[in-house]
Amino acid sequence: MTDAVPRDPVLSTSGITMIFGGLTALSDVNFSVERGSITALIGPNGAGKTTFFNCLTGIYRPSRGTMVFSPEPGKSFGLKKLAPDRITWLGIARTFQNIRLFNNLTVLENVLIACHSRMKAGILGALLRDRRTRDEENAMAEFSYRLLARYGLGPSANHVAKNLPYGAQRRLEIVRALATRPSLLLLDEPAAGLNIAETRELDDLIKYIRANESLSILLIEHDMSLVMSVSDMVYVLDYGSLIASGPPDEIRRDPKVIKAYLGED
Ligand SMILES: Nc1ncnc2c1ncn2[C@@H]1O[C@H](COP(=O)(O)OP(=O)(O)O)[C@@H](O)[C@H]1O
Ligand SMILES: [Mg+2]
Repeated sequence: MTDAVPRDPVLSTSGITMIFGGLTALSDVNFSVERGSITALIGPNGAGKTTFFNCLTGIYRPSRGTMVFSPEPGKSFGLKKLAPDRITWLGIARTFQNIRLFNNLTVLENVLIACHSRMKAGILGALLRDRRTRDEENAMAEFSYRLLARYGLGPSANHVAKNLPYGAQRRLEIVRALATRPSLLLLDEPAAGLNIAETRELDDLIKYIRANESLSILLIEHDMSLVMSVSDMVYVLDYGSLIASGPPDEIRRDPKVIKAYLGED
C-alpha cells in the first residue's frame, strides 16, 4: 500500500469505524483526499463505500474515529458532531447511488432548491418577500440558469425533471450538488445505470468539473475504466477495511485488489 500522505488534504479521516448491531461496516478507515484531486473509493458490493459517504455527510455518526474537512488551506472543521445541513453549508456536497431529484419539479426548480442552502434571507425573508429577499432570489435564479447552461441543461431548464433521459437526470443531480458551491464533491456510483455513450459523457463531465470548478472530487464507482481514466488516487475497501491505496496503474495490478474483485459473486 502506498501511504502517500497528502500535504494539503481537503479531507482526512482517522480510525473511522461504523458498527451496525453486530456488523462492522467500516473498520479503522484512514483516508485522505488531496486538495484539487479526483480520488476514487472502490470495492465490491457491501464493502462499506456508501456507509463511508453517510458518515462524512452526517447521516450516520461513526462509532469511532475522526473526520476533518478543510474547505480552504488553513481552515479545518471536525465533522463528527455536525448535522447534514451544516456539513453542506461548510462545503461538502453529494449525489446518491439512486438518483434523488424532485421528480415533479422543473430542472431549474431542482437547482434553485439546492441553492437555498446558501441563501441569507432565511424563512422569514421568504415569507415576507422583502426587497432583499427578492434581489437574492433573482441572483440565485440567474446563477442557477447559468450553471444549467454551462452543463448543457439550459434548453431543459423548464422541463419536468422526471421527463429527462436517465443520463441527463444524473447530470442534473451533479449540477444540483454544484449549486451548493462545494469545495468537496462526493459522487456515489454516478455511472450506475448509464449506457456506454452516457458513461463516456460522464467521464468528460467529471474532467470538465475538475478543470473549471475549484473543488476536489471523491468518487465511488464500479466502472473501472471510468475510475482509471479520471482518478489521481484510488483507495480500495473490502469488508469495511482499506486493503490498498495508490495511483490507478498500481491499483489495477495489485493482487489483493484483483482477489477482492474475483471473489465477488
Ligand atoms: N443503516 C444500516 N443498518 C444496518 N446495516 C447497514 C446499514 N447501512 C449499511 N449497512 C450494511 O453495511 C454494509 C456496507 O453497506 P454499503 O456501505 O451500502 O456498501 P457499498 O456501498 O460498498 O456497496 C452492508 O453489509 C450493509 O448491509
Ligand atoms: Mg453503495
